[in-house]
Amino acid sequence: MRKNVIAGNWKMNMTPSETKAFITDLAPMVKGMDKCDIVLCVPFVDIATAVEAAKGTNIHVGAENVHFAESGAYTGEISAAMLKEIGTEYVVIGHSERRQYFGETDATVNLRTKTALKAGLKVILCLGEVKEQRLAGITDEVVSMQTKLDLAEVSAEDLKNVIIAYEPVWAIGTGLTATPEQADETCGVIRATIAKLYGAQAAEDITIQYGGSMNDGNAKELLAKVNVDGGLIGGASLKTDKFTTIVKAAN
Ligand code: 13P
Repeated sequence: MRKNVIAGNWKMNMTPSETKAFITDLAPMVKGMDKCDIVLCVPFVDIATAVEAAKGTNIHVGAENVHFAESGAYTGEISAAMLKEIGTEYVVIGHSERRQYFGETDATVNLRTKTALKAGLKVILCLGEVKEQRLAGITDEVVSMQTKLDLAEVSAEDLKNVIIAYEPVWAIGTGLTATPEQADETCGVIRATIAKLYGAQAAEDITIQYGGSMNDGNAKELLAKVNVDGGLIGGASLKTDKFTTIVKAAN
């Protein structure tokens, strides 16, 4: 039986001191809520502080990106080994903001995914259609293609360390949310693609999150859907009370 995973994606928010205060505040609020995994994906410079503050709690820490090379002449970049050594467990890869603003493609998403998995990180792989694609009726084709390209050459064994986050780009930070039915349907298309690639059991086991304006008001309905196994939350993950309500809904 797959587990719900509720992950915050802080994006470019929170300093190290704010990180410490946030986790100190959050930890007692989510204590004992063990039916879902709780992850905070934070800016690189906040990771060490987050790992320290989360020690002994049920909060796990992730990064928001990782480079695809193991090491080398990539000024300003961060490797999977660096993340691993400071206690990072998860990494977000392929977020639409990286695809949109930083030239991320399915090819580089695939490279990053393989490098992260090789280093022993768990990957939260983001994909989803833009508004024009949904309006053109090609959402299923888009997410299915992204799933195939982003996971190319990822073994069935490594897939066990992959979470897929379905994030319709038109719903990110816009206040627009996919309806529970839309989220369920498209997460179902991704699951069917996993079944084709890796078999029925792998499709049954993989965690597929929904992301895109999930908040304390709509989480329960979205999470009730059979194909939605958690959430990747931006804005609402920056407030401990809102985030806790979402965790509670997943529990
Ligand atoms: P919002 O929850 O702010 O829409 O962001 C979603 C997201 O991009 C999570 O990765």
